Amino acid sequence: MVRWLPLTLSGWFLSLVLAAADDGLDPYWTRPIPAQGPAPAWATANPVLTDLSAETCRLCHPAQFADWSASLHARAMSPGLLGQLGAFALDTQRDCLACHAPREESLDHWEAHGLAGAGKIAAIDCAACHVRAHVRHGPRAIAQTPHGPIAALPLIRQAEFCAPCHQFDATGLAVNGKPLENTFAEWQASRYARAGVTCQTCHMPDRSHAFKGIHDPETTRRALSVRAWRVRDGLRVRAGNVGAGHALPTYVTPRILVRLQGADGTPSREHAIARRMRWTAQTGWEELADDRLLPDRWVDLALPLPPQSLGRVRVEVEPGYDYHRRIYPALPALLGERLSGAGLALLERARELAGRTAYTLYRFDCPAWGGAEEPCHALP
Ligand code: HEC
Ligand code: HEC
Ligand code: HEC
Ligand code: HEC
Ligand code: HEC
Repeated sequence: MVRWLPLTLSGWFLSLVLAAADDGLDPYWTRPIPAQGPAPAWATANPVLTDLSAETCRLCHPAQFADWSASLHARAMSPGLLGQLGAFALDTQRDCLACHAPREESLDHWEAHGLAGAGKIAAIDCAACHVRAHVRHGPRAIAQTPHGPIAALPLIRQAEFCAPCHQFDATGLAVNGKPLENTFAEWQASRYARAGVTCQTCHMPDRSHAFKGIHDPETTRRALSVRAWRVRDGLRVRAGNVGAGHALPTYVTPRILVRLQGADGTPSREHAIARRMRWTAQTGWEELADDRLLPDRWVDLALPLPPQSLGRVRVEVEPGYDYHRRIYPALPALLGERLSGAGLALLERARELAGRTAYTLYRFDCPAWGGAEEPCHALP
């Protein structure tokens, strides 16, 4: 089951598209996740055991709550999503929410109250990952807890658990043979999959629920190694994916910019580690270049400089690059009258927020040529 947006829009979005990865998916991830229904009789005397909001889980699982509430899963009902959601046909709205707020209760609330009720809609909350028909699921069975027995769910420790939202299936939008969202397949082809290193191993260290990724400098530093040298005829840089179990970055929206420069700013050269796309009404999607780094891949860069010149190397990460520069600015014209005033304001806010996520990952200052190859100095 795939649904497409009206033609003009369909090509346009990056993130959008069509969930509906129902085929071949574990039934645990049927979406929307069916309404939980009435709580078991033994629990109904105690609202703490029947209420499934993250705030209630927090009472007894404060550590998981603290991590999760800072994560993007908690914030997936973002201004960028909410700003445009109401402008789509209902079927498309449902497709979006299948990943951004997958519980049927959330969908119902959205359909009943729209933007006005959005503050109350759970995004990807505890219950979305852990609770089905009021039964809590975890990595192991536990016979007795305040909320009844825990059902063992082996899937929860497997990469397949994350795939429904982090991988487009065969019916999703693919360009140049690669789905726009292809994280699970990239992982599957890597040595990490062969070694049993899962999404959870890297993204939930010590069972943390912070789900850190490219928005977090420390996490990105673990993925990207950069070395820089002064050589006789200029600067040399090697950048490699040493720690991400998929392409770095895995999505089409972030950009990592490696900039080699003379100390006074010239000459200079930039290399973008990114998958660069273009969309026009005439041609649809095109891939201009795919310069992401697959696991264990390196790229070598050089900049010619006179021997007496100092140089520098900067590595800048823009996690929301395409949203900030292209998608949010272009949406108002594309959505036209279907976009409400409130939607417009949310998209403007989303654009601003996406721009603020940029950070400098590495800085090196490089000496003049002193007769031998020398590493550049890494600055804090
Ligand atoms: C009144 C306290 C309380 C509330 C509220 C509560 N839990 Fe629990 N939960 C527990 C206790 C106690 C355990 C058992 C821990 C153990 O034995 O290691 C548990 C176990 C779990 C487990 C299995 C953990 C494991 O170690 O494998 C999961 C998953 C879980 N709860 C999810 C939730 C979710 C989701 C919510 C909110 C919808 C929630 N809990 C609300 C007390 C609570
Ligand atoms: C995106 C899915 C996702 C969300 C959202 C999520 N969890 Fe989890 N949770 C997991 C996974 C996966 C594991 C198992 C990790 C492992 O064992 O490697 C887990 C494990 C747990 C455990 C067992 C921890 C342990 O140390 O064994 C508890 C308790 C728990 N989660 C509670 C919560 C609570 C409370 C929330 C909301 C504040 C929450 N989870 C939100 C995916 C999620
Ligand atoms: C298959 C799951 C999936 C579906 C379906 C989906 N998204 Fe997303 N979306 C993601 C993931 C994963 C990210 C984070 C990666 C990224 O930034 O591309 C994301 C990011 C976004 C972002 C940027 C981050 C933010 O929240 O501000 C927006 C906006 C967005 N999606 C809107 C939509 C809209 C609108 C739809 C429906 C037309 C949609 N998405 C459908 C999974 C999905
Ligand atoms: C070997 C460790 C490792 C494994 C395995 C791994 N990741 Fe990552 N992941 C990272 C690191 C480090 C980053 C930060 C750098 C980056 O963006 O690639 C990251 C980034 C991300 C991002 C941020 C968006 C982006 O464009 O990069 C998402 C989403 C993500 N991972 C999801 C997953 C999923 C889903 C899986 C399993 C299919 C997975 N990861 C497996 C280490 C890993
Ligand atoms: C129900 C859908 C869903 C499931 C299941 C899910 N995710 Fe996500 N995930 C998303 C969406 C949507 C976003 C983007 C939220 C946003 O920015 O609006 C996201 C964001 C992330 C990010 C943040 C990356 C960054 O940009 O910094 C990481 C890491 C991540 N997910 C890892 C995982 C892992 C690991 C699992 C499995 C344990 C998992 N996710 C399961 C939907 C999901």
